[in-house]
Amino acid sequence: MTLTEPTIDLDVRHLSGTIGAEIRGLDVRQLDAETVAAIRQVWLERRVVFFPGQHLDPAEHLAFARHFGEPTEGHPVVPGVPGNPELFEIDYSATGNLYATYGDVASYERGIAWHTDVTFVKRPPLGSILRAVTVPDHGGDTLFADQVAAFAGLSPALQGFLADLTAIHDGTRQFQGILDHVGEGRWEGQGFTALEPVEHPVVRTHPETGERALFVNPGFTARIKELTLNESDALLAYLYAHSVRPEHTVRYHWGAGDIGFWDNRVTQHAVTGDFGDAPRVIQRVTLRGDEPR
Ligand code: SIN
Repeated sequence: MTLTEPTIDLDVRHLSGTIGAEIRGLDVRQLDAETVAAIRQVWLERRVVFFPGQHLDPAEHLAFARHFGEPTEGHPVVPGVPGNPELFEIDYSATGNLYATYGDVASYERGIAWHTDVTFVKRPPLGSILRAVTVPDHGGDTLFADQVAAFAGLSPALQGFLADLTAIHDGTRQFQGILDHVGEGRWEGQGFTALEPVEHPVVRTHPETGERALFVNPGFTARIKELTLNESDALLAYLYAHSVRPEHTVRYHWGAGDIGFWDNRVTQHAVTGDFGDAPRVIQRVTLRGDEPR
């Protein structure tokens, strides 16, 4: 990875081997261009960065996001917060918006399995910025896995084999029921009523750093196009297990008001479903991405 040295010093604490950093000592409401550039470098290097105790309101959350890209609709299928379509809220409680309104999602059992956000569209998000609104006293952590490290941890022979493969991603299983319920989805300004499968390379090259990363996830990858279904299932099962090995991950315990910002091009994440009936509400802003290559 070739990154220029930051021109200002940030208070950065690494949280695991290759992924995750906490950045302290900033009020993210007041960022100048140099500080934004320095944050971006840490983010590219560490894949996910956290800013504890910022307590932003929705407008400040969006303003922070705009330093790093262009916000999309909060989610292609799940409608945004009323009056704020760029804010995607997840209320994990049994009576919360997502579970009460869209029954199918309750099958996630209050944890959301490993996934990369919205890979079932042609141009998946560049990144996501999460604001912890209500958090349990314990549990409800989010795990993030570094897909550059995961790819680097494979043998050269398997890396070479994977580099020529294409994966089909499909959001139907999780989201077609919700889409039928809401009637129309929207992404990059275009409305749709059905989710069409899309193709992405199994290994993508990061457009900013040039690093290669595994780009399959159990949330939305349906199969590998060039293989038989049995071969595809077996290879994906191996890659899913490998990509979230403990040495590729970081686990973050949220405090109310914390901000987390991940590079969706090179990470997977999963919420731990260990918070019982305790309330947990997050809001997320999603940044427009490019076509994986
Ligand atoms: C998500 O999957 O984007 C939500 C992550 C979280 O609630 O921690």
